[in-house]
Amino acid sequence: MNDYRPVPEDRFTFGLWTVGWRGLNTFGDSVRPALDAADTVRRLADLGAYGVTFHDDDLFAPTSSDSEREAVLKPFRAALEETGLTVPMATTNLFSHPVFRDGGFTSNSRDVRRYAIRKVIRNIDLAVSLGARTYVFWGGMDGAETEAGKNDAAALDRLREAFDFLGGYVRDQGYDLRFAIEPKPNEPRGDVLLPTVGHALAFINSLEHSEMVGVNPEVGHEQMAGLNFAHGVAQALWAGKLFHIDLNGQRGVKYDQDLRFGAGDVKEAFFLVDLLESANYDGPRHFDFKPPRTEDMDGVWESAAACMRNYLILREKAKAFRADPEVIEALKASRVPELAEPTLGEGESPSDLLAEEIDLAEVGERGYHFERLDQLALEHLLGVR
Ligand code: GCO
Ligand code: MN
Ligand code: MN
Repeated sequence: MNDYRPVPEDRFTFGLWTVGWRGLNTFGDSVRPALDAADTVRRLADLGAYGVTFHDDDLFAPTSSDSEREAVLKPFRAALEETGLTVPMATTNLFSHPVFRDGGFTSNSRDVRRYAIRKVIRNIDLAVSLGARTYVFWGGMDGAETEAGKNDAAALDRLREAFDFLGGYVRDQGYDLRFAIEPKPNEPRGDVLLPTVGHALAFINSLEHSEMVGVNPEVGHEQMAGLNFAHGVAQALWAGKLFHIDLNGQRGVKYDQDLRFGAGDVKEAFFLVDLLESANYDGPRHFDFKPPRTEDMDGVWESAAACMRNYLILREKAKAFRADPEVIEALKASRVPELAEPTLGEGESPSDLLAEEIDLAEVGERGYHFERLDQLALEHLLGVR
C-alpha cells in the first residue's frame, strides 16, 4: 500500500516564512519561537521536501551589514549542501518595513520606489547565487484603502517600469531567472493592485520582457475573490505562464487563511492536482501556508508533512479517476473530448458554415450528463471507488 511518503522527486518546497511563522497577527502575539534557517532546512529535508524558498528579510534584517548577512548565509549554505535541499525560488519582502506602508514599486513616494528596486536587485543576486530559477513578486502592500489617494494608471505605469527595469537587469547579468507575479485581491491593503490571475496575465502582456514573466497563483488568493482556482490555473497554463504555484487551503470569501494544502475546498484541490499532473506541470509544488496559532512546533511540522501527504493522496486519486473505464466512458457521454475538435474544418469559409443547418429542437434536448461525471469524481475523492 502507498504510504504517501514524499521524496525530493515530488518537488515539494516550503517558504522559510511558512513553518517559521510565529503566529503574530492583528489580535494575538507570537506563540512560537523564531526558527533558525539552517535548522529549518534540515527539518524540511528530513520530511522529504525538495527545496526551500525565502524572502530576504526571512534571513536577515534589511539594515544588516555584509558580515551580519554572511553570518546567517554560511550555516544556511552549509545546511543546503549537507541535505541536498535546493532553493528554486526566492522573493523580496516589500511589505514589512514601515517605509512600505504605501507599497513598494507603487508607493506614492519616489524614494521608496527606488529603494524597493534596489532591495530586489540585491536579493536577486543572492537568489541566483543559491541556484534559484524563479523570482516571485507579491505586491501585497501595493494597493489602497481609498480611491482618491492612488492614481491607478500611474501605479500601473510604475509597476511596469519596475518590471521592465528588473527584467533588463536580469538579462544584462545573463541570469537564468524568470519572474512570477503573485496576485491577491486584498490583505494587507484594502484592495491590492493585480488582484487576480486574469489581471496579472493582462498586465504581463504589456511588459517589455513579457516572455520572462509569468504568474505564481495561490489557492487561497483566487478563492478570496470568490473565483475557482483550478480554472485560473488552467488559463495560466494555457497562456504558458504558470511559472510557479503557491499551494494552501482557504474556506470561502474571507481573510487569507493560508491553511495547509487540502484543508480548504478539497474538491477544488482534487481538480487542481488532477490539472497539474495531467498538464505535466514540472515546476515546484510550493506550499505557502501558515500553521494555525493553536499549534506548537510539533504541530507545525505535522501540518507541513500533511501538506505533502495530501498532495500525494490527491495525486493518486486523480490518477485513479482518469484511469477508471467508467470515467472514460462518462467523459465521452459528456462530449468532453469533442471540445478539443476545432469548431471549423480546415479551409472552411463563412458560406460553408452558413449553408449548414442544425435541428434546434433535437439538439436543444441534448443532456450533458455532467452530474454523473462529477459524482464519479466525488466518489473517487471520497474513497468509495
Ligand atoms: C500571502 C502571500 C505571501 C507571499 C509571500 C511571497 O499569503 O499573502 O502568499 O505569503 O506569497 O510573501 O512574497
Ligand atoms: Mn496567502
Ligand atoms: Mn503566496
